[in-house]
Amino acid sequence: NRQPIVAIDGPAGAGKSTVARQVAQALKLLYLDTGAMYRAVTWLVLESGISIEDEPAIAEIVSKCDIELGMGDEPQAPIRVWINGQEVTQAIRSLEITSHVSAIAAQTPVRQELVKQQQRWGEKGGIVIEGRDIGTHVFPDAELKIFLTASVQERARRRQQDLKNRGEADLSLEQMQQNLSERDWKDSNRNIAPLRKAPDAIEIQTDGLSIAEVTDRIITLYREKV
Ligand code: C5P
Repeated sequence: NRQPIVAIDGPAGAGKSTVARQVAQALKLLYLDTGAMYRAVTWLVLESGISIEDEPAIAEIVSKCDIELGMGDEPQAPIRVWINGQEVTQAIRSLEITSHVSAIAAQTPVRQELVKQQQRWGEKGGIVIEGRDIGTHVFPDAELKIFLTASVQERARRRQQDLKNRGEADLSLEQMQQNLSERDWKDSNRNIAPLRKAPDAIEIQTDGLSIAEVTDRIITLYREKV
């Protein structure tokens, strides 16, 4: 007897975070960025000096870690993230974390623990949850499932702009495309809960669409379907 759930999945850089937050705000729903959780765990692993291949050691720290997420004061501010009491809001968006997160997110104990937490946070519903496996694994019974995509060229352009706005290392478009493609490949080819469009998800191809247009489309779908 829970409130509705909106699941938004898709490849890296498709605009999921921005859109999911705006949908949540417009519909007065909670918002959960599951990618931020995998990023926070990756930060903790690198910080601890554990090898990213040491699955038992990673399983151990993940089972004990405490992740907190909070909304920034302004609607556009990035969501704030803490792990074991330490704020990592900015640190988890670095290229360093981005290039290691898929290897850690592919590990069974990491996914088991984080999925359990996500299911607990979403159990009452009334929430927009964004990630790679929300519609397929975390909440396969979500009332509305969206699969957000864009061409790799478009996604690379958006990511480059994001990084520029944050004053981070300036990658060429080619490097950025390469990074996104590698991450998508790893996320789509891992053994457990790979990135997939759920059969009952609605795909929105966002090339040439503004954030407002994508947001409106999802809100309309919600009002029609939920
Ligand atoms: O969404 P974001 O780009 O922040 O996600 C970072 C990484 O976290 C993804 O590339 C993927 O490896 C992992 N992830 C995942 N399952 C999710 C969300 C993110 O494996 N539900």
